[in-house]
Amino acid sequence: MRKLLPLISTPHSGGRSALTCRFRCGDACFHEVPNTSDNEYVGDVIAGALSRRSMMRAAAVVTVAAAAGTAAVTGNGGATATAATVPAGTAPKDTGAARGLRFTPVAPNTADQVTIPEGYEQNVVIRWGDPILRGAPAFDAKNQTAAAQAGQFGYNNDFLALLPLDGDYERQQLLVANHEYTDEVLMFANYDPANPTREQVEIAWAAHGLGVVVVQEDHRSGKLTAVRRHQLNRRLTATSEFRLTGPAAGSDLVKTSADATGTKVLGTLNNCSGGTTPWGTTLHGEENFNQYFANGGAVTEPVQAARLKRYGVTGAASERKWERFDKRFDVLQEPNEANRFGYVVELDPYDPTSTPRKHTALGRFKHEGAQPRLTEDGRPVVYSGDDERFDYFYKFVSSKKMKKGKSRAARAYNLTLLDEGTLYVAKLTGDSPAAQIDGTGKLPADGEFDGSGVWIPLVTANADGAVSHVPGMTAEEVCVFTREAGDKVGATKMDRPEDIEPSPRTGRVYVALTNNKDRGAAGKAAADEANPRNSNKHGQILELAENWNDPASDGFAWRLFLVAGDPNDPSTYFAGYPKDKVSPISCPDNVAFDSHGNLWISTDGNQLGSHDGLFGVATQGPRRGELKQFLTVPRGAETCGPLIQDRRVLVAVQHPGELDGASVENPMSAWPDGPGKMVRPAVVSVWRKDGRNIGV
Ligand code: FEO
Ligand code: CA
Ligand code: CA
Repeated sequence: MRKLLPLISTPHSGGRSALTCRFRCGDACFHEVPNTSDNEYVGDVIAGALSRRSMMRAAAVVTVAAAAGTAAVTGNGGATATAATVPAGTAPKDTGAARGLRFTPVAPNTADQVTIPEGYEQNVVIRWGDPILRGAPAFDAKNQTAAAQAGQFGYNNDFLALLPLDGDYERQQLLVANHEYTDEVLMFANYDPANPTREQVEIAWAAHGLGVVVVQEDHRSGKLTAVRRHQLNRRLTATSEFRLTGPAAGSDLVKTSADATGTKVLGTLNNCSGGTTPWGTTLHGEENFNQYFANGGAVTEPVQAARLKRYGVTGAASERKWERFDKRFDVLQEPNEANRFGYVVELDPYDPTSTPRKHTALGRFKHEGAQPRLTEDGRPVVYSGDDERFDYFYKFVSSKKMKKGKSRAARAYNLTLLDEGTLYVAKLTGDSPAAQIDGTGKLPADGEFDGSGVWIPLVTANADGAVSHVPGMTAEEVCVFTREAGDKVGATKMDRPEDIEPSPRTGRVYVALTNNKDRGAAGKAAADEANPRNSNKHGQILELAENWNDPASDGFAWRLFLVAGDPNDPSTYFAGYPKDKVSPISCPDNVAFDSHGNLWISTDGNQLGSHDGLFGVATQGPRRGELKQFLTVPRGAETCGPLIQDRRVLVAVQHPGELDGASVENPMSAWPDGPGKMVRPAVVSVWRKDGRNIGV
């Protein structure tokens, strides 16, 4: 048996390096918690903005939803939690597993490679710097230019989508990727963080954003390779044109000296996770946008200062010093520019001339991602988490029905689906006495962390205007200062809501809550039934059941599906599955479903000593809760953007080598091209050697 891997002693959230915290999220977890509202948390009675009437209606609906939820989630074969016998660092036995998860699990490890199960193969589909547009040169780190980077695959790939191509494009698919952020110390030799050059800054602008590249499948193996210079290939960067749509578009809150219309934004920033729509577009969450804006701490006007603070725009100079080269990144000079970031972006990757939209109707916060599903009558419902300690999760229900077909008219119409509808924030109530939630993760007497919840409406956008449901805030303000709206209505403070994805099989919705080192700290919200561990290192996954198809339904039932960590740790929970048969997991982040209905989870940070990984877990049937590790990523890297197709698994290997003290001169990973080569974030495809489907 393997020895327990050493515990990581970093104070950084989820075991991440200081470098990751600094470049990715502007040290978000080391700043004051932006949510200083004293609104209630789980266990408190619903009050505040909810009227008595809506409370009663909500309660009635919750009862129905709770009953439905209970029915939906029984059937785990009577499996109960048992004492763990396998130490962390050991892979569980290959026990057969649920269909789609029949592979020999990868043991936790610290190998500087992508480690995959026996019988599988892998390749790098595309790397940072690979040319994808006509005229773009081959990657040359020493002679990099902004023009070259704008035609090459961007840095730090996160969310991935694959969309089908028809006709001539048989066996080709469209790969869409987010390029969340840049690691200047790993991109530029002799980088001086105090004095970046204009050229370095412009390269970083070009390395952010989105990428679209056609990929070709090998007929025999299923291996994917990028098709360079395809007419649909595209890059969008921190300087490309985007359009604001929805209630806040054109409002005074988003007008700037360069854009008096309040509709035309240059760039998208810090796109983390995302989603693929049933109408053939992709959604991209703008996450830690605050870190790019300077001088928030110098603003003295109290309302603006409070709003900047709520979003973490609090510093002096920004990490990357972009404000020196474009004044729009200085909030003293351009107070509204930051109000134009923090949205869900929609891209039509089939039209390389289209201007992507920033949907203000879905609110402005640190959107992790956005994954839609359709109601029976064709209206999209989009879930989105706000990745910050003690922040909220949301859903948007469109009032418009998707038009079927691929006609130009249908496609144009469907691009407006997310402009009209209602945005809600989640309020959760536990069903166990608060005294039974002691902050250790010990299950309450009823054997489950569970309860009911209500979706509190914030704003409804119609064709002829928008209506705020938040006292004291206009509809435009709700769309731009959405966190403030959530505070006012008493939304539930969660442990960093990351990806949220509905199961295409069951309709149940899974919310990844990655960690929260400050849960239960002095002056902060204590553990509650949905966030049951103080100083939460390893995170949890919440499962919601709700009545999708009733437009009047605003309630849901919830329970914790996973409480992550070392299975030997009594605070962990794997949906009641025997814990000697599961892999250890820490810090769930991005989630995806396979065609069998299994949930796949990638991790960001690991407090158990292993590298980050990708895991599959059954959500239904007798093996519900059996979690198995499929791969691990190289040193310093995060596993992102998992995509599970029948023939392949795709992951974005983000920020390899991003460890404290690393630089171009002192690389701490040799991935993907071996020693002596630049460390490069890249997309990896994994398939079965025997050509059969994944995990069957
Ligand atoms: Fe970019 Fe919330 O992870
Ligand atoms: Ca309970
Ligand atoms: Ca993420």
